Amino acid sequence: MTAFEEERRRLRERVWSLVDIDRGTRVLDVGVGREAHSLKKLLELGLVVTSIDVDLAALRKHDTRGASFVQCNAACLPLRKRTFGLSMVNFTLHEIDPILHQKVFAELCRVSERIMIIEPAPGTDSVYQRYQQIWTESMHSIGQFEDYQTVEYWIRLLKKYDAEIAVSEQLTSSIRVVGPEAKKYMALVLEDMREEGVSEKYIKKMMTIGRNVENKGMVFSNINVIVAHAQHSK
Ligand SMILES: C[S@@+](CC[C@H](N)C(=O)[O-])C[C@H]1O[C@@H](n2cnc3c(N)ncnc32)[C@H](O)[C@@H]1O
Repeated sequence: MTAFEEERRRLRERVWSLVDIDRGTRVLDVGVGREAHSLKKLLELGLVVTSIDVDLAALRKHDTRGASFVQCNAACLPLRKRTFGLSMVNFTLHEIDPILHQKVFAELCRVSERIMIIEPAPGTDSVYQRYQQIWTESMHSIGQFEDYQTVEYWIRLLKKYDAEIAVSEQLTSSIRVVGPEAKKYMALVLEDMREEGVSEKYIKKMMTIGRNVENKGMVFSNINVIVAHAQHSK
């Protein structure tokens, strides 16, 4: 395992060590995604999972044994008040249209006792910042979102719905990905862009920054983890 992979593994372990919840608890997995990392981990922890996504293709990719799947928008959940002990939002919020953020938080606070948010922070390394910027522009160009926000932004939204912050931790990335490892990473990024149907204009921009990433390297952004308790009126 490379130093970068080792750091990623350590950060993931730290994130999941912050999930403090009894086996058998009902959990809402917000945005199952194509890889379903959160779904797999929540099932491993013995939780009763409902995964949602707006994207039917993402939901269809996964084995339906062991979890319930609902195609819906997180801003309008067809679910009853206080159904879940926890809503887990793992690397999903930056892909949701910011216009919907308030509604999403209102819904999460309505349907769950607790909310756990795991989100990449805006980058601080200059090469990574440029990479994030091109990635964001590329996703906007195809009508998708990739909008990174500060921890203060998410906390403000939670507080707007009277949620009480129990944990707020920033996990630091420090390993510089450089050389062949960076080249391999950037090749996967370009593959993703092509698969998503991003135009050549953005692919070329990404190829240019790719050479920079390979030569200078880049440090990924930190990861924010927030756990909040929703306040429910009786
Ligand atoms: C990066 S993936 C989530 C990763 C996943 N939680 C994991 O751990 O592997 C983000 C997902 O959020 C979904 N999404 C975007 N906007 C949404 C919305 N308004 N409501 C529900 N899901 C949404 C996308 O379709 C995408 O599948």
